[in-house]
Amino acid sequence: MLRLCLLAVCFLRIYAAGAAVLRDFQVAQPATVPHDAKQCTIKVLQRDFAFSFGSAEVVELTPPIDCGPLGSWAAITLNLTVTSNGTQFDRLAHFTFQNVEIWRTSTPEPTRGDGIIWTYIKDVSQYMPLFAKPGTFIFQLDNLIQPGLDGIYSTTVHATFYASSNRHPAAKKADLIIPLSTLANNTGNEASVPPSFSRNVTLPTNTLQVYAELFASGNGQEEFWYFNAANAFLPSLPAGTTFGQGPFREVRLLIDGKLAGVVLPYPVVFTGGFIPSFWRPITSYGAMDLPTYFVDVTPFVPLLVDGNPHQFTIDVVSAEADHTILQNWYVSGLLQVITDSSPEPTSGNITVYDAPLFAQATNTGTVRNGSVDITVTASHKLHVEASILSGSGKSIHAVWTQELSYSNHQTYTENATVQVLRQTATGRTYATHNGVPSVADVFSYPLNVDFAYLAQDQRNWTTRIDHSYERAVLPNPLIVGSTIKERQITDGFYQLATGGNFGNGTSNNTFAYADIAGNTYAREVNAALNIITLDREGGSLARTGPTGESGSIFQVPLDSVYGAVRLPGGQNL
Ligand SMILES: *[C@@H]1O[C@H](CO)[C@@H](O)[C@H](O)[C@H]1NC(C)=O
Ligand SMILES: *[C@@H]1O[C@H](CO)[C@@H](O)[C@H](O)[C@H]1NC(C)=O
Ligand SMILES: *[C@@H]1O[C@H](CO)[C@@H](O)[C@H](O)[C@H]1NC(C)=O
Ligand SMILES: *[C@@H]1O[C@H](CO)[C@@H](O)[C@H](O)[C@H]1NC(C)=O
Ligand SMILES: *[C@@H]1O[C@H](CO)[C@@H](O)[C@H](O)[C@H]1NC(C)=O
Ligand SMILES: *[C@@H]1O[C@H](CO)[C@@H](O)[C@H](O)[C@H]1NC(C)=O
Ligand SMILES: *[C@@H]1O[C@H](CO)[C@@H](O)[C@H](O)[C@H]1NC(C)=O
Ligand SMILES: *[C@@H]1O[C@H](CO)[C@@H](O)[C@H](O)[C@H]1NC(C)=O
Ligand SMILES: *[C@@H]1O[C@H](CO)[C@@H](O)[C@H](O)[C@H]1NC(C)=O
Ligand SMILES: *[C@@H]1O[C@H](CO)[C@@H](O)[C@H](O)[C@H]1NC(C)=O
Repeated sequence: MLRLCLLAVCFLRIYAAGAAVLRDFQVAQPATVPHDAKQCTIKVLQRDFAFSFGSAEVVELTPPIDCGPLGSWAAITLNLTVTSNGTQFDRLAHFTFQNVEIWRTSTPEPTRGDGIIWTYIKDVSQYMPLFAKPGTFIFQLDNLIQPGLDGIYSTTVHATFYASSNRHPAAKKADLIIPLSTLANNTGNEASVPPSFSRNVTLPTNTLQVYAELFASGNGQEEFWYFNAANAFLPSLPAGTTFGQGPFREVRLLIDGKLAGVVLPYPVVFTGGFIPSFWRPITSYGAMDLPTYFVDVTPFVPLLVDGNPHQFTIDVVSAEADHTILQNWYVSGLLQVITDSSPEPTSGNITVYDAPLFAQATNTGTVRNGSVDITVTASHKLHVEASILSGSGKSIHAVWTQELSYSNHQTYTENATVQVLRQTATGRTYATHNGVPSVADVFSYPLNVDFAYLAQDQRNWTTRIDHSYERAVLPNPLIVGSTIKERQITDGFYQLATGGNFGNGTSNNTFAYADIAGNTYAREVNAALNIITLDREGGSLARTGPTGESGSIFQVPLDSVYGAVRLPGGQNL
């Protein structure tokens, strides 16, 4: 497997420099914010990230006072706008506020000449308690300038606070947000694992509900984790084809060493992955807004309300015999805590606990006539229940269940110059409080990659990726539940050459969003060779103005295409 981000030879030659700046984007629903509310926008930071490795931007953010009482806003968004002109890798970047990671993003690889620009608007309303007071805001974007790499990421971040009113009520918010992070004050607060990351947390004794959110992404030898080969078969592949420890990765949250929840992560492919030219101008899903994952920690409240510190651990494990992984994953998390109206302590008991520490996995394969064929499967079931009684007399019967399954099939033929991946990760996570859903996550993440070198010299190759993100998720009762069905098919060709690399590609995307508040959005957008060839959108969140993607040669008027949007499963939650 080609590791584009480890090679010095993978820079993309500027392909067909256009007449205008290339406007990159990730397909996503527009933020669901009240556009007619009073808005207060502040500039959070402006920075040219040149040689910025180890030098994050650290600023003080003071919330505005002109859009109502602090913390009473209807919504908050961040606007990240970046320009770049030159050659540069994709870079992972982290937003940390009040020591809580609130957004993980990555950069599109730039072009030279007119360069690129992108804007992503991130809804951060769920972190309202953090924004209600001044604090340290950190944007970490570790970039390198060195021979062959001159792209600077010129970055501006604004925050917009939307005033609440009778029409637009204040967003629901937790009483407290607790970081599961490194607490560093000079760089992003993500931790590198392995080894596992732990933090001791003391919760208020009148805690009633706790919801965790987890961030996790593979990096370095783990960037293409889904293409890592099971160790038993690694010696049968030509050296350098791929890394080991198998392709299964499970992110775990443990409390005092007991498993509380597990995550099968969505495989985000960064814009340097496989064929940089087919991520232009449309990045892979999640590249600008990495998905996060949710665990209802409420069933553990009976353990956590004794006033003592408890150890929260985040790690990433494999399906190999020793469960270890390579270097590295970046992880962090946060706890949204809801306390009781009474200061009296909460009590309770965990009544059911069936949560094996590791998934059950199988690992089989064949090696025949130079072909290697490997299948890894895994499944994991959790079931926890608790009875909780608050000081004010509220009782909660909390149930947490997870049922996850995974399969990964890798085929290497013709001396591993032809590499085929078929992976599926599906799951059903469901939590209830007195029978009412509190957290739900029903997902399917199929990933199919067909990779082939065109010659044994491995100087040119083709790749086709067909991957989907289908997810109905209720993160917690403070956030509106939603369903997303996204599919992206890309294919392209890449050629290394001393006079400059060459790449091309196409990207076809279909996206549909629906939420419990009744918002809908659908978009179909295709690109070929940096040019948008089709762009249709519909639904209640569709933008009324031009979409602004440069090079758009075909735009269909909004309502002639999607008069009504039919979205399967939209009301699942
Ligand atoms: C985002 O910020 C950029 C400037 O950094 C500005 O040009 C753009 O209009 C803003 N977009 C929105 C939707 O606020
Ligand atoms: C981009 O950088 C090149 C030099 O590498 C320069 O010639 C060009 O004018 C720059 N483009 C813009 C839009 O600044
Ligand atoms: C944060 O910064 C202060 C100095 O301003 C330092 O004393 C403290 O150790 C730092 N904390 C961490 C966790 O880095
Ligand atoms: C958490 O507390 C335990 C017991 O007091 C201690 O052994 C452990 O080192 C602490 N862990 C961290 C990450 O502080
Ligand atoms: C927890 O168990 C104890 C001992 O059985 C019992 O007295 C108490 O009522 C239980 N608490 C709840 C909230 O169920
Ligand atoms: C074995 O591999 C070679 C080279 O890839 C191929 O020509 C031959 O047909 C294969 N033989 C069998 C029995 O599959
Ligand atoms: C097989 O691939 C390896 C590594 O890419 C290469 O060194 C070797 O020459 C190839 N063997 C053949 C028969 O092409
Ligand atoms: C790929 O590279 C090989 C060997 O360098 C060359 O013979 C072949 O023509 C190239 N294919 C394309 C489509 O450029
Ligand atoms: C994308 O769709 C176009 C037709 O709109 C088709 O020609 C092209 O082959 C498709 N690309 C992929 C990768 O499926
Ligand atoms: C990309 O380049 C390859 C090799 O030159 C060519 O075969 C292919 O048709 C090109 N694809 C597109 C979409 O232009």
